[in-house]
Amino acid sequence: MPENSLTTAFEPLRAPTSPKTSAWDEAQQRLIVALDVPTAAAALALVDRLEGQCPWLKIGLELFIAAGPAIVETLVSRGHSIFLDLKLHDIPNTVASAVRTATALNVRMLTLHAAGGPAMLAAAREATINAATPPELLAVTVLTSMNQAQVEAVGVPRTPLAQAELLARMGLENGIRGFVCSPQEVAALRALAGREAVLVTPGIRPAGAAAWDQQRIATPAQALQQGASHIVVGRPVTQAADPAQAAREVLSEIAAALAEN
Ligand code: C5P
Repeated sequence: MPENSLTTAFEPLRAPTSPKTSAWDEAQQRLIVALDVPTAAAALALVDRLEGQCPWLKIGLELFIAAGPAIVETLVSRGHSIFLDLKLHDIPNTVASAVRTATALNVRMLTLHAAGGPAMLAAAREATINAATPPELLAVTVLTSMNQAQVEAVGVPRTPLAQAELLARMGLENGIRGFVCSPQEVAALRALAGREAVLVTPGIRPAGAAAWDQQRIATPAQALQQGASHIVVGRPVTQAADPAQAAREVLSEIAAALAEN
């Protein structure tokens, strides 16, 4: 297993004033709840139902297209750390401008597609350099929805894992130090990116939870043991009868996994 410093890495993502305290606080910094809902009202209702258990929230395309920067600003003003999952992929100048705009919203993580290439990644990185509160730029390597046939269909003559490693190397060479990947790839990317890298894995299912459409899944503990620094959990928390209780159960599993490392 790759070296994995779960308790000392990723300090830049911590609010400067928040001291390292309990295992529970540490677990709360590792869990990102995906707000996959269609309106601001639904997002705020869900956040209320989480009863302050989850500081980290992911806003993806559905909610951002519906509710725009206002929902980001509202949640930031309530003290949340926002992972803005827009998966940017365009010419370098356009992506750099979008990164600057997102940086002004004080988001803590922002995604872009590694497949945009070295110039796009370098321009994105450059756009954050003088920011007071730069977001962690996370490159998406190969979408977890893409299998071997899907990868070959877009002209890539290698396995999804080999392609993910190639793109991660390219990202690292161009100033990107964080990645989004499946739990199956996270050990390989940890070995490549080193102990300080932010590696975020979706496809997380607590034992006994429904898989829904996720094919390649892992439990929170497995993902952390394989080298993830943060895990994204959506439906197992957001569609639970009691989201706060479901979140507490995931946090307990994370705290136990961190204690073992
Ligand atoms: O509900 P569930 O836990 O499957 O939600 C996972 C979240 O992570 C969703 O917001 C999904 O869009 C996102 N995601 C993913 N796979 C990726 C990238 C993001 O499932 N490769």
